[in-house]
Amino acid sequence: MEKLVVTGPTPLKGEVIINGAKNAAVAILPATLLIDGCCTIENLPNISDIKISCEILEKLGAKITWNSKNSITVDTTNIITTKAPLDLTSKFRASYYVIGAMLGRMGEIEVGMPGGCKLGARPIDQHIKGFELLGANVTVEKGTIYAKAKKLKGCPIYMDIVSVGATINVMLASVLAKGTTIIDNAAKEPHIVDVANFLNTMGADIRGAGTDVIKINGVEKLHGNATYSVVPDQIEAGTFMLAAVATRGDITLKNCITKHLESITAKIIEVGGNVQDNGDSIRVWCNKRPSKANIKTLPYPGFPTDLQPQMGVVLSIANGTSMITESIWESRFQYTEELNKMGAQITAHGKNAFFEGVKKLSGAPVYSTDLRAGAALVIAGAVAEGTTEIYNLEHIDRGYEDIEGKFRKIGAKIKRVTE
Ligand code: EPZ
Repeated sequence: MEKLVVTGPTPLKGEVIINGAKNAAVAILPATLLIDGCCTIENLPNISDIKISCEILEKLGAKITWNSKNSITVDTTNIITTKAPLDLTSKFRASYYVIGAMLGRMGEIEVGMPGGCKLGARPIDQHIKGFELLGANVTVEKGTIYAKAKKLKGCPIYMDIVSVGATINVMLASVLAKGTTIIDNAAKEPHIVDVANFLNTMGADIRGAGTDVIKINGVEKLHGNATYSVVPDQIEAGTFMLAAVATRGDITLKNCITKHLESITAKIIEVGGNVQDNGDSIRVWCNKRPSKANIKTLPYPGFPTDLQPQMGVVLSIANGTSMITESIWESRFQYTEELNKMGAQITAHGKNAFFEGVKKLSGAPVYSTDLRAGAALVIAGAVAEGTTEIYNLEHIDRGYEDIEGKFRKIGAKIKRVTE
């Protein structure tokens, strides 16, 4: 078993280069199934979710060549099966994107229910509703999803809730459908825009991504033969911005899109941190104890749920009592019990958690309960006095490339140990 051992307190200082966005990349890889040919994808984060995505593509018949640790060429000329490997698709959430892509390309797919972080109920009814409106027949039996369509036909689709996954999945299914699809009440996250940009680069006709109405005019085929670079990761950038505030450090992030970080910047300034926007880089520093603040997680452009635990670390040591309202996931406060083991005073009730700010945290053995909880515990380890041991690293490795290397480069005393 592996653990991360972090000894603090250390103000984190220096430069971090932000990787490509996990949540864009895990959709762009299955999107390559819509291409009858080759394409090259650059700025891919080197994380376990990407490696599993590549294995799934290979099992379906794609040929993948690694050009470097962050770039691959995918050849999807020959798709040899419409059965996605159940053991791999159950390992992470975004495996559901093979449904939209394979319905579009082959008109058929059989895939296991997706896995991923345990954040409470994670239904996929909006995905299924979209596929059915496009003309597919979808059934779910004993944990397997069967979807089939003769020829998908574009139509208006109103999403009952704002869903990142359903918006992308329906977009994937519509690209090669006959006629026009209009997704209303679409999600607007940067990764939605990135997937649309990728598909348009390959010959799709998608307009309006990044607004709440997306129009997809079906095209005959996607041509491939192009290179695409994944958008920088908004959540990885936000994680290091909040690490700078929590540790009273000074971190400059390179390769980020500062426009995507506005909701985080606003909260950092509210708690007393400083932010300098340099266009394609951003500097965050803080030289005093953070002040209290109230946060509500919301779909983009609101404060992202995927930065809620990292912000929770900042508020756990803030001056005063803060409240976080989690409006996306039912169970995203599990990390608060781990922070309490380190001396935090947090009480979570349903959608709300109350943070009685303490002056310091103390090192303790803690467990990463999901991906972002794990990142929050690494920050907490750098804040705390003494040694923190973080277990369940498989969650962190799903979404952060070389987390210990990046934290070490900005001064953290962190090492990965195999027990
Ligand atoms: C994506 O999950 C991200 N994952 C999550 O990031 C992120 O927390 C989430 O969006 C919200 O931003 C990926 O992109 C792979 P949703 P997704 O569909 O698409 C409900 C991380 O740490 N809903 O936008 O699964 C759902 O229960 C991960 O990187 C339905 O009711 O999220 C939730 O309450 C964790 N029916 C809300 O909508 C549906 O059919 C938003 O979910 C779909 C969703």
